[in-house]
Amino acid sequence: MQKNILITGASDGLGLETARRLVSEGHRVLVHGRNEEKVSGVVAELAGLPGAGPVESVVADLSHLDEVDALADTVIERHQSLDVLINNAGVLKTRDAVTRDGLDVRFMVNTIAPYRLTRRLMPLIGASGRVINLSSAAQAAVNTQALKGEVHLDAMGAYAQSKLALTMWSIALAAEEGAPVVIAVNPGSLLASKMVKEGFGVAGKDLGIGAKILCRASLDESFADKSGQYFDNDSGRFASPHADALNPARVADTIEAIESVLNRLG
Ligand SMILES: NC(=O)c1ccc[n+]([C@@H]2O[C@H](COP(=O)([O-])OP(=O)(O)OC[C@H]3O[C@@H](n4cnc5c(N)ncnc54)[C@H](OP(=O)(O)O)[C@@H]3O)[C@@H](O)[C@H]2O)c1
Repeated sequence: MQKNILITGASDGLGLETARRLVSEGHRVLVHGRNEEKVSGVVAELAGLPGAGPVESVVADLSHLDEVDALADTVIERHQSLDVLINNAGVLKTRDAVTRDGLDVRFMVNTIAPYRLTRRLMPLIGASGRVINLSSAAQAAVNTQALKGEVHLDAMGAYAQSKLALTMWSIALAAEEGAPVVIAVNPGSLLASKMVKEGFGVAGKDLGIGAKILCRASLDESFADKSGQYFDNDSGRFASPHADALNPARVADTIEAIESVLNRLG
């Protein structure tokens, strides 16, 4: 059956490779990216694939909350339901490490934007839909002051904390009444994307490893009863995330910090 699937950060890397596979299977894919020209090129490529399902695009810079909200508004305007949201957009190294709101861009794009987007789109996703959150093997204890932009971290520190924070809210959201199936996925480490080339200076492993698990997590029946869990594709199985993600007090602190940022930004 054709599904409606929104993939953030589908203009490159894992998101793009996942979009290629899902479009080829005939699904309707909403391609999100931040650069209009790059997204147009991707849509043209995807629409030309054999057996392609419908492809739509939406452009938003997730480092700005108003653009996250505009993205949600556009999806709500165009669609009555969404089967799958893949929160894939992410950033590790960049020259623009601090957003215009004074936040570390890793926390904004990797943690806070997907949190806001998911909350806004929940009515469309419903209890039968799925939210797949791109976690990582890199997870580090969250400094809530850093999440709020009050303390600055290096790129890798901020990235690892942002990924644990995302994993934390995934688990908490899954426990809410009427929540969709929410699964945090480490797609595999050092896969051959721009992020890995720029961040680690290595070519990396086949992106297909990550795209394949994202497709399975999005559609396979075997993931339908795994809400609130963390899939580690380095070991190829569900596994324990960083211990803090299983600590209700730490999770509550992190969510409170995310909410306080959102309240401040309006
Ligand atoms: N590759 C790995 O080994 C690996 C391992 C673990 C987790 N992950 C996670 O997998 C996800 C995909 O990463 P990737 O490796 O495929 O990296 P990538 O090739 O750099 O792709 C990142 C995507 O996010 C988009 N993006 C970045 N900043 C954005 C912003 N401010 N607003 C909107 N979109 C933005 C990028 O847009 P542009 O095309 O415009 O740059 C691109 O589409 C990330 O969440 C990453 O943390 C990757």
